Amino acid sequence: MKSKQSWLNARISNLRAKTETEQQRLERLKQEVLGEGEAASRPTRRSFLTRLGFGATLLALAGQAYAFLRSLKPNVLYEAPQRFKVGTPDQFGEGGKFLEDKRLFVFRQGKTFYAISASCTHLGCTVKMEKLNQPKKVKTRQREFEEQYEFHCPCHGSKYYGDGTNYAGPAPRPLDYFKLELAAEDGQLIVDMEQKVGQDFRLTV
Ligand code: FES
Repeated sequence: MKSKQSWLNARISNLRAKTETEQQRLERLKQEVLGEGEAASRPTRRSFLTRLGFGATLLALAGQAYAFLRSLKPNVLYEAPQRFKVGTPDQFGEGGKFLEDKRLFVFRQGKTFYAISASCTHLGCTVKMEKLNQPKKVKTRQREFEEQYEFHCPCHGSKYYGDGTNYAGPAPRPLDYFKLELAAEDGQLIVDMEQKVGQDFRLTV
């Protein structure tokens, strides 16, 4: 009886050992198969470099195509029109009116009108019109007149007489005068900033 028992125990442990060995073998096999699969799915260095090169070529071609298509479309500069209406003469009182968006002064003296640029001839800052406490007599190269206002530039201190002639500071020349016309269709004043005129230009309406 005892020997039967020990034979049975030996057999069981033998079977157990066998089962464990089979399991280990199966496990190794599994690892080998899965390991190879992963390795196969991982991109190799060579294929990675190939893909990188392909991508860079595509990118360069796309850039060239864009540059070519862009060159077919002309660049358009949307500048403010240089010729524009500023209203009818009766909308202007005696003296100067500053049109901020145009950087322009439009003056009325009775029935005459003229337009002076507010852009300083030094570096283009906007000059300010200063009303004088007392009118003063001024003699410029152009003429002699009594002025009631002057233009002063806040940037570097240039000063201009009432007729736009520079007399102090770094401004190299007088303020520009622009041509004024009357529109036939609605009687509005038209300023043409592409046409500079002399200081004695006057539009009589
Ligand atoms: S910009 Fe007017 S003085 Fe310089």
